Amino acid sequence: MTVRILAFAGSARRDSLNKKLVRVGAQAAREAGGEVTLVDLDDYPMPVYHGDLEDASGLPENALKLRALFLSHDALLIASPENNGSVTALLKNTIDWLSRSVGDGKGANSGLAPYRGKVAALMGATPGPWGTLYSGLPHLRVILTKLGVTILAPQVPLPHADEAFDENGQLRDPKVLKSIHSLAKSLVETTGKLKEP
Ligand SMILES: Cc1cc2nc3c(=O)[nH]c(=O)nc-3n(C[C@H](O)[C@H](O)[C@H](O)COP(=O)(O)O)c2cc1C
Repeated sequence: MTVRILAFAGSARRDSLNKKLVRVGAQAAREAGGEVTLVDLDDYPMPVYHGDLEDASGLPENALKLRALFLSHDALLIASPENNGSVTALLKNTIDWLSRSVGDGKGANSGLAPYRGKVAALMGATPGPWGTLYSGLPHLRVILTKLGVTILAPQVPLPHADEAFDENGQLRDPKVLKSIHSLAKSLVETTGKLKEP
């Protein structure tokens, strides 16, 4: 059974450590048998959520494009930094826009449709000593759980991420790479089991 995974980072920065981390995770998920689509949120710019804007013109085009991508995948692989102890504004804004219903709001048009029944694996890289372990990852877990996403218990926080990658974007520490492979395998296997009829 094909398991389709949408992978992205919660940072738009060109040299983002989390983009490097999610690239490694995406490759690990492919090696575990998943079909992975890796996207860059920088390619889907959207305004800060505003109710009046939504009333006037609905979801921005890029939110609709990303929404369609969420709908066509079974699982999410996310690597996000934390800003002031929580998820980035970019990631939260993206999640918020995609949680708005479209059209008649029923079935696939519902705000929960992009999330409900999905499985997610979470990672987070920061140059600091905790690597999103104590705030960023728990907050993201709460947000996605509220939207109906099943989140794997294992996760990969990556502290001192500014020293973690070599010039080719490969992880220097084989133990970290092993934990990413284990997470990716678990994502593919768990999603596959949940998809079984
Ligand atoms: C506004 C702001 C707040 C930040 N807050 C935290 C924080 O609470 N904890 C932390 O470990 N790092 C924090 N950082 C540092 C980021 O983790 C660091 O810049 C990281 O490299 C950003 O992720 P990226 O490399 O994927 O873009 C913060 C950075 C910014 C710009």
